[in-house]
Amino acid sequence: MPSYAVIGASRGIGLAYVRQLATRPDTTVFAIVRNASASTHLTKATAGLKNVHVVEADIADYASVERAAKQVAKVTGGTLDVLIHNAARTDPATIYLGFDQLYVVAASYAVYSRSRDAPTPSPSMDALDADFIEAYKINALGVIHSIAAFLPLLRASTAPTKKVVVISTPGADLNFIRAAGVGDMAAYGITKAAGLMAATKYAVKLKDEGFVVVSLAPGVVDTGETMGESGNPDASAGVAQFVEGMNAKGIPMELLTPEQSVAAQLKTIDALTLEQNGAFLNYTGEEWSL
Ligand SMILES: NC(=O)c1ccc[n+]([C@@H]2O[C@H](COP(=O)([O-])OP(=O)(O)OC[C@H]3O[C@@H](n4cnc5c(N)ncnc54)[C@H](OP(=O)(O)O)[C@@H]3O)[C@@H](O)[C@H]2O)c1
Repeated sequence: MPSYAVIGASRGIGLAYVRQLATRPDTTVFAIVRNASASTHLTKATAGLKNVHVVEADIADYASVERAAKQVAKVTGGTLDVLIHNAARTDPATIYLGFDQLYVVAASYAVYSRSRDAPTPSPSMDALDADFIEAYKINALGVIHSIAAFLPLLRASTAPTKKVVVISTPGADLNFIRAAGVGDMAAYGITKAAGLMAATKYAVKLKDEGFVVVSLAPGVVDTGETMGESGNPDASAGVAQFVEGMNAKGIPMELLTPEQSVAAQLKTIDALTLEQNGAFLNYTGEEWSL
């Protein structure tokens, strides 16, 4: 019975993973969320499903991730076949900000939405530091915490290929940043780049143990529908604006639903081979490139 742990499963892409994996016969899915009672979209989507187990962990807090791995081990008898590390700090209030705006992060929501009147906050490098540290804990250390905590279970898997998939982003790729001229999204891009490096280092370390560790770009996905109780139109507008901006620069991008992105991602994950260990792949399966 194949087992999957999806880290960051409350909403968005992670929720779509749980939904789609749960439909596979004989598959056990562990939906790892930081707050089960607040994960209302997940609760609705998985009501009555016997093959989905919701387990709590905050990826910034290693002890909680270790506890989650122990809970998973109790159900599976100590193994896990596929780890999908999806969680990231994606708060629309800060994700689009650049250095100058992070300097005045107190006004972040107004800066992000651009249509609102921003108050005039006092510039503070402390605000930038705090935002970066928070993003680093989740986007970089979170990757290490997840892989480290679940590694004993993955090592015990009898699957021919033990799979670790870390959801990354073109925003972590230097070539993309240069070509697309993305000077903003500073804390997100810089800390996701560190997460990409963490995944790649694990790939190198685990290469001789039957592992394939890959980073996967999910495409541009509108996750606004499951942001908050009744969705977040600002977040949907932000991502649509991003796609429009890229297309205007001659970088073709398509806006995907979580279901479309995850259907393609799962095809890619199903087909992973040991030779792909360490790769940075696009959701459609080929190596990520512009
Ligand atoms: N959407 C896109 O277009 C896009 C593009 C490129 C890359 N990505 C990547 O795709 C992945 C999923 O993004 P998404 O768009 O689906 O975002 P999302 O809808 O905002 O979901 C983010 C998920 O991460 C979880 N999370 C955040 N911090 C956490 C923590 N400390 N511990 C545990 N879980 C935590 C959130 O849980 P809570 O509900 O508790 O906050 C939520 O489940 C991310 O790695 C992101 O970088 C997305």
